[in-house]
Amino acid sequence: MTDPAADKAKTRELEPPARPTPDRGPGSVRLMRRLIRDFARHHWGKLAVSVVCGAVAALATSANALLVKYVLDDAFKEGAAYSTLYLIAGAAMVLAVVKGISSYFQTVLMTTVGQRVVADIQNRLFSRLVHADLALFQATPSGQLISRFTTDANQLRFASTQVFTVLGQQALTLIGLLATMFYQDWLLGIVAFFVFPFAIAPVRRMSRRMRKVSLNFQDEMGHFNALLSQVFQGARHVKAYGMEAHETARATALTERIYRLFVRASRVRAASSPLMESLGGVGIALVILYGGWQVTHGIRTAGDFLSFVTALMLAYQPFKQLSGLNVQVQEGMAAAQRIFEIIDIEPAIQDRPDARPLRVTKGGIKLEQVSFAYRTGDAVLNAIDLNIPAGCKVALVGPSGAGKSTVLNLIPRFYDVTGGRLTIDGQDIREATLVSLRGAIGLVSQEVSLFDDTVRANIAYGKPGADEAEIVAAAKAAAAHDFIVDLPMGYDTVVGELGTRLSGGQRQRLSIARAMLKNAPILLLDEATSALDTESERQVQDALKVLMTGRTSVVIAHRLSTISDADLIYVIEHGRVVEAGRHQELLLRRGSYARLWDLQFADPDVDGVLVEVHG
Ligand SMILES: Nc1ncnc2c1ncn2[C@@H]1O[C@H](COP(=O)(O)OP(=O)(O)O)[C@@H](O)[C@H]1O
Ligand SMILES: [Mg+2]
Repeated sequence: MTDPAADKAKTRELEPPARPTPDRGPGSVRLMRRLIRDFARHHWGKLAVSVVCGAVAALATSANALLVKYVLDDAFKEGAAYSTLYLIAGAAMVLAVVKGISSYFQTVLMTTVGQRVVADIQNRLFSRLVHADLALFQATPSGQLISRFTTDANQLRFASTQVFTVLGQQALTLIGLLATMFYQDWLLGIVAFFVFPFAIAPVRRMSRRMRKVSLNFQDEMGHFNALLSQVFQGARHVKAYGMEAHETARATALTERIYRLFVRASRVRAASSPLMESLGGVGIALVILYGGWQVTHGIRTAGDFLSFVTALMLAYQPFKQLSGLNVQVQEGMAAAQRIFEIIDIEPAIQDRPDARPLRVTKGGIKLEQVSFAYRTGDAVLNAIDLNIPAGCKVALVGPSGAGKSTVLNLIPRFYDVTGGRLTIDGQDIREATLVSLRGAIGLVSQEVSLFDDTVRANIAYGKPGADEAEIVAAAKAAAAHDFIVDLPMGYDTVVGELGTRLSGGQRQRLSIARAMLKNAPILLLDEATSALDTESERQVQDALKVLMTGRTSVVIAHRLSTISDADLIYVIEHGRVVEAGRHQELLLRRGSYARLWDLQFADPDVDGVLVEVHG
């Protein structure tokens, strides 16, 4: 092995700056205990049967070692009957069959339990993730989260198969053989094994290294997955900006890092082998010297001695496998740790214990002295007061980054206010259940999420179990029915993962149909038409008008002409309301709103301060 410090310095200059690895997480024992308590315990019946099978296999193996003694001492004895040899041969065969059958059941049972545990962990992870705060998804690249399901789950799966089978089988076999050896000659047993305690310290050091390398490796795989999903999703922009070489370089840097970590992991893994081999060699040499001396001095028979050596040789395989297992345990624990890190994130937005269903009578919304910051100290809303009367269309306008979308995020509690309170029909939304709150709100935003499913299913997302008539009615009201029936399979047409087979206006009308079907009393529209061309914008506007009737609507609009009919307009700048009123009043006031209006009126398609970059 090279000097570790020099090694590190060398890799440092080759590698992009390494990410810091915080010394994280609980020890292997704690993790293992948790795995057993939370996931494996329920399968104790299968585990018990499989341990019994393992014990039978272990006994059969140990008995083989004892047979050697009878071959040498009884069957080869002068004047021994030939039948003794038959008897011993028969016994050897029976032992082999018993061992084969019991290991089969043991392996099958252990693997079933191991895989069940991994599947349960994956399900738990998924259900924790879909319930996680929106903030988590905005802070973590999706590729990172996906890798917990793929790379980490696979690692855990592999480790658990190994651990459950090898540990169950080889540990018992080893114990059986050790018992046989010590039963035959305890002193010789001590001679054979007294060197092994010397291995404990190096093995522990190796374990720690392995765990660290494994964690880094899995982290890098997460970064790699994140890069892949970003590049594939943004393929158009990568090409348009000619960034292929740049992205390739980023990918290469990551694969290099993964390659190096993988090599480092194999080096640690391989290092356990020579250590154990050498110690095993020392043990065998000592046994031959001492045991041989006993035989030549007539203290032991040759049968005793050879039977002991056979047991020692037989013990070698399980011993080696068990010591190699340590490495896999470390890898599995690293994966478990990364998975538990996500499972353990408690969502900040949860129902209070005393939460009650929201009673929406009219749907009036009030923000009272509401402050909010995504990051502490970085206030986005400053003690803002908004009154959104029931059944009205209220518009929020203002420059990009003013905090308009943030206001909309607070209403369904995607985030909680950091100061003040937000009420719907007089009830603080933090005292209502999330299900009732979100059930009362329809959301149409600029980026439309269509799922990789049929048009029908995508509309029915607004109301699971809706019947055909309701779906068609919603599509008609959203001015989507006509183009849907023109699609190759009508309502059964599958729209791609990102809905790419539809135009922006068509996708937006599907999402309006979805909101229509949900029929919620409160409607939030965040730049629903900003990404559209004038023609589709007109169609979508018509659909939105239908959707808004009779509901409380909060509308953020890019083009002010679409909100000039609003019942109330709030102009927001830097997280504060700077003006409020109806269109005409605000124009007459010649303030911020009038300035924004003039800018757009001068050239409705180039809107100065309102220009935003749309992904
Ligand atoms: N998820 C987020 N995490 C951190 N900061 C955010 C997040 N979303 C928005 N911001 C910041 O909050 C401010 C207001 O954003 P936003 O409400 O989207 O503005 P608007 O919709 O008026 O253009 C901006 O400075 C923006 O950078
Ligand atoms: Mg916005």
